[in-house]
Amino acid sequence: MKRVRQDPTEPGFVQDPYPFYASARAEGDLLFWDEYDMPAAFTHEAVHALFRDRRFGREVPPEMATEGPAHLAPWLAVEAHSLLEAEPPRHTRLRALVLRAFTSRAISALAPDIETLCHQLIDTFPEGQFDLLDAYCTQVPVITICRLLGVPEAMAPQLLDWSHAMVAMYQANRTRETEHAAARASEAFTAFLRDYVEQRRSDPHDDLITRLIAAEEEGERLSGDELIATCILLLNAGHEATVHAIGNGVKTLLETGTKPGALRPGTIDSTVEEILRHDPPLHMFTRYAYEEVEACGHAFWRGDQVALLLGAANRDPAIWTDPETFDPTRPIQTNAAFGGGLHFCVGAPLARLEMRIALPILFERCPNLRLTEPPEYSNTYHFHVLTRLVAER
Ligand code: HEM
Repeated sequence: MKRVRQDPTEPGFVQDPYPFYASARAEGDLLFWDEYDMPAAFTHEAVHALFRDRRFGREVPPEMATEGPAHLAPWLAVEAHSLLEAEPPRHTRLRALVLRAFTSRAISALAPDIETLCHQLIDTFPEGQFDLLDAYCTQVPVITICRLLGVPEAMAPQLLDWSHAMVAMYQANRTRETEHAAARASEAFTAFLRDYVEQRRSDPHDDLITRLIAAEEEGERLSGDELIATCILLLNAGHEATVHAIGNGVKTLLETGTKPGALRPGTIDSTVEEILRHDPPLHMFTRYAYEEVEACGHAFWRGDQVALLLGAANRDPAIWTDPETFDPTRPIQTNAAFGGGLHFCVGAPLARLEMRIALPILFERCPNLRLTEPPEYSNTYHFHVLTRLVAER
């Protein structure tokens, strides 16, 4: 297998990883990425196939599992009970419980509230320059996920802090301080939810926490630790990526001078898919091989890891004509932004709904919206996300 070198914290790569992806993809399906010390899939075909290959999965093979360092214990405890880190049968049981609350009917029912929220946020935009990422792109998903779970909206700033500290563990610039901060956040988040769940047991509402508490009380289906880990996963995953899918989208729409016609009811769905294809917020997920397996022309041993490059797959010229160009009129074809296979994003319908509502309302209410400083991506690969989005209405 050919080898490739690319420091994921190198500034040029952080700002624009796509030229590296294009040259890697041209070399074949799989390349050995030295800095990550594992093979990496860059083509749409390889990423698509590996996501769906049941001989690979996210859960660490049991013989490789370690207790992990003591200073990370609170973070590892949450991970250990997360459905994202589980494989069947545990994954099937946990995912089924969550999916019950994510039916398309339940998600569509959120639309009027999301619309009202978008308008309220725009009503309070300051005069002059301001950070749209903070004032809008962040608020829509974080408040929506609080409402869906039934966590007080006043907690949103605190949830953002905990979540940022926890997901920093997946980023290439991770340091010892990142680990301590993630452990502290996990401990505080867990303590908050334990208290909150106790309060709510005697005060049921029509929300996801209440439904998960009922599942836990009914017996074997959800342990107390799984209940907490599921709430944390949903609260974190429920905004981290969506904030930046909206942010990257606003940036692209403004930079390309996309006309309002792309945000109308008949066109918004393909515009949203094109935003997710062209500049997705999450670029890499990994899998373990569970047996000796030949895949994409490479022999894997049990326990070997492979990286799946979503941002590279989404610009594969084998699937999309002129893939580097943002073209909201493209016919929709499945892209890898939400993953694929067993762990396909549970929140995809919600994220799409939020984008479908938030983008048109923003551009309709602020027809003269313009960027007042060039947006920059943050040095947090594999999160391909903006640091801020300074604009003027
Ligand atoms: C545009 C926004 C979003 C993007 C790009 C995104 C992307 C992803 C991806 C790529 C995965 C699969 C990871 C893997 O296979 O290793 C995933 C899983 C997941 N996402 Fe999302 N996500 C988004 C929004 C959301 C929202 C709004 C929620 C919750 C309300 C959510 C909840 C989850 C959960 C629970 C999983 C784990 C599913 C499982 O393991 O079965 N996501 N997401």
